[in-house]
Amino acid sequence: MNIEALFNISYGLYIVTSGNVEKGNGFISNTVFQVTAEPPKFALCCNKNNYTSEIIKKTNIISVSILQKQASSEIFGRFGYKSGRDFDKMKGMDIKYGETGVPIVLNESIAYLECKLIETIDVGTHLLFIVDLINAEIIDNSLEPLTYSYYREVKKGVAPKNAPTYIDKSKINNIIENNNLKKFKCTACGYIYDETVESNIFVNLHNDWKCPICGCDKECFILL
Ligand SMILES: Cc1cc2nc3c(=O)[nH]c(=O)nc-3n(C[C@H](O)[C@H](O)[C@H](O)COP(=O)(O)O)c2cc1C
Repeated sequence: MNIEALFNISYGLYIVTSGNVEKGNGFISNTVFQVTAEPPKFALCCNKNNYTSEIIKKTNIISVSILQKQASSEIFGRFGYKSGRDFDKMKGMDIKYGETGVPIVLNESIAYLECKLIETIDVGTHLLFIVDLINAEIIDNSLEPLTYSYYREVKKGVAPKNAPTYIDKSKINNIIENNNLKKFKCTACGYIYDETVESNIFVNLHNDWKCPICGCDKECFILL
């Protein structure tokens, strides 16, 4: 099997939130998709360990902010690599509350959906939430949506283990083993700079180079 075939599946990128005015939280997801038109229903896949999954199960409400193409690495660092168990992800964000009271992140987004949970399917590591669309609005339609392939290829973004589409690179057959090349880990978000797959060795990166995921400086990186 060539696991790299899976990289050809197209996805968008979203901030999925849940909760209310007192306590809201959200995570980055690439697995939101429409399942029916009449009535409009969507599905999204959420790791059981995500803090947001606990909140979704309690409140049964969800919002989906559709990220724009130039979404920053800070937004991925905050919502995609850190847990709301450790800090308030909503603090300092531009939040609107929907008709259900769900917090909706407006930052770096082109549109949003507000949804009610109607069914939960246990798929092992993840829960597949089926939701009814109850409202949708455009925030800024002059912007283009971000796709997962653009995030991966142009922004050099990766997905952590909690993402359903995570691929363990050690399982990819055609990455050339080279013992002289090293790996460096971002201590802020866990991103690995792997010289065996990058075109530049780490020490040659410019001093103002930043982690493509969370925006941390070169100093945040440790040699593995
Ligand atoms: C590009 C990308 C895509 C992701 N897609 C998903 C996804 O579809 N489902 C999921 O459960 N986690 C996904 N994740 C991981 C979660 O966003 C991450 O584990 C987050 O820190 C969970 O936050 P929480 O614990 O505050 O809910 C993705 C992360 C990234 C960076």
